[in-house]
Amino acid sequence: MTATVPVLTIDGPSGSGKGTISRAVAQQLGWHYLDSGALYRAVGVAAGWADLDLDDGGALVRCTFDTTIAFDESGDELRVLVNGHDATDELRTETAGAAASAIAAIPEVRAALKDRQRAFRVAPGLVADGRDMGTVIFPDAGWKVFLTASAEERADRRYKQLKNKGVSVTMDGLLREILARDARDANRAVAPLRPAEDAVRIDTTGQGIEAVVERVLALLPARNV
Ligand code: C5P
Repeated sequence: MTATVPVLTIDGPSGSGKGTISRAVAQQLGWHYLDSGALYRAVGVAAGWADLDLDDGGALVRCTFDTTIAFDESGDELRVLVNGHDATDELRTETAGAAASAIAAIPEVRAALKDRQRAFRVAPGLVADGRDMGTVIFPDAGWKVFLTASAEERADRRYKQLKNKGVSVTMDGLLREILARDARDANRAVAPLRPAEDAVRIDTTGQGIEAVVERVLALLPARNV
C-alpha cells in the first residue's frame, strides 16, 4: 500500500541546495531519501563507459534498461553502485551532470526510470529530491517544496564543492554550465523543470542550510507523521 506512505518532494534547479536540504530533512524525520538525479547521472556514466553517442536515443534507452543502480547506505556517505561498480565520485562530476541532463530529455528514458523512483516510497516515509518529483513522479505527495537560488550563488556553491574535492574549475565556466543546464531542463518537452502548482517556493539565496531545513520541516504538521 505505497499510496499511504507519506512523501515530501523537494524540486529545484542544480545548486539550489536540494541534495543537502533533502538529506538533512530525511535524516531528521527518519525517512528514506531518493536522489533521483543520481539515477539520471548513473545512466549518463554507464553510457560514457559504453562509449555511447549522446545523440543515439535508441542506444541510450537500451542502456537505461540495462544499467543496474544500487544505493549503499551502510557507511557514513551514501555510495552509488552502477553496474556493480562504485561510481559515487564520478557521478558528481560536471561531465556526468551534463550527460544526465541530455539523457533526461528523452521521454523513454524518463518512462523507464519512473517505477524505479516510485519503488523508493517505503514506510515510514520518503523525501524525494529532483526536478519532477512533485509534478510527475509523486503528484499526490503530501508536501511539495520548490527551492531556488540565484544562478551566481548556485555556481558559487558548486565552485566551493568542487574546489574542496580538488577539482579545478572556473566560476565563469561553472556559471555558463549551470545556465545551460537550467535552460535545457526548463525547456524540454517532457517533465520540464517547473514548480508543481501546489509547491511552496523557498528562495535559498543568502540563507544557511539550517534555516532552510527548519522552514521545510515546519511545513509538516507534526514531525512524527
Ligand atoms: O539533481 P542532479 O543535478 O543530480 O540531476 C542531474 C540531471 O538529471 C539534471 O540536470 C536533470 O537534467 C536530470 N534530472 C531530471 N529529473 C530529475 C532529476 C534529475 O531530469 N528528477
